[in-house]
Amino acid sequence: DWTMTNYIEDQIKKIREQVGDGKALCALSGGVDSSVVAALVSKAIGKQLTCVFVDHGLMRKNEGDEVEQIFDGYFDSHFVRANAQERFLSKLKGVTDPEQKRKIIGAEFIRVFEDEARKIGKVDYLVQGTIYPDIIESGLGDSAVIKSHHNVGGLPSVVDFEELIEPLRLLFKDEVRQMGLELGLPEYLVYRQPFPGPGLGVRVIGEVTEDKVAILQDADAIFREEIAKAGLDRDINQYFAVITDVRSVGVMGDFRTYDYTIALRGVTTTDFMTADWARIPYEVLDKVSTRIVNEVKHVNRIVYDITSKPPATIEFE
Ligand code: XMP
Repeated sequence: DWTMTNYIEDQIKKIREQVGDGKALCALSGGVDSSVVAALVSKAIGKQLTCVFVDHGLMRKNEGDEVEQIFDGYFDSHFVRANAQERFLSKLKGVTDPEQKRKIIGAEFIRVFEDEARKIGKVDYLVQGTIYPDIIESGLGDSAVIKSHHNVGGLPSVVDFEELIEPLRLLFKDEVRQMGLELGLPEYLVYRQPFPGPGLGVRVIGEVTEDKVAILQDADAIFREEIAKAGLDRDINQYFAVITDVRSVGVMGDFRTYDYTIALRGVTTTDFMTADWARIPYEVLDKVSTRIVNEVKHVNRIVYDITSKPPATIEFE
């Protein structure tokens, strides 16, 4: 009989057999897939596993700390947080082309990961949270590569490991979530909306700067808070703020302002390959708009994206 409980037991046994008394390394991003795979492998081999969290500074507000807290509570393996915000910002300085930004973030991610791995020494196995749809979408299957995903394929070259451990590679997203719940991960993590590998790097249009990232984090946190308050967080499959490269004229009291435009995006979708823009109630949008312009400096205009995918993509870059 196929049940998730049996599947987990089976995978744990396989991982133990494969690893023996070797050492394994995993990259933990805080997303659903990497958290579930880390929890599974941690359950199988405990302290023989080290999880490295590359904090590129492009996470949502407070998310870096959340990843660390979850790890403390649920895992029995070693954990390393690499605070690499400055490395990423300096590499991204002056870069505006979206694909270029993605490539730089992906490459730097691997470099930071390698630097941490080198400190750990000889590693026998690399754990990856690759799931079935990743394989299809990255062009290893039949579909065309629309954007370069940095989750698959870009294996660290300096990390000298013998084998990959990819216990989720046959699972779809809902099965991964089910596994996460069975492994005892918190619901908010298991039902977390997708977040792109390059993080806020692709939600800051144009050059990525520390200031723009901070503005975006604050605006995005308000949007997410109000969606949750309105009880819409399970109905809207993905929602986030984007800081556009547009600045426009506004008026605040007696003063003219010249500040950023924040775009809000919300979509309903089942597979993220196509998506419809979410019909968020006007009252909710109004509350979000009012709060963002009042609470976040250097924002004087809010727009809501009413395009579906296709022709637009979910992300702006
Ligand atoms: P698009 O923008 O192509 O996004 O409609 C489809 C879904 O994929 C997410 N996305 C990514 N996920 N690495 C990821 O793991 C990436 O580089 C990446 N780029 C986009 C996006 O958030 C949406 O859910």
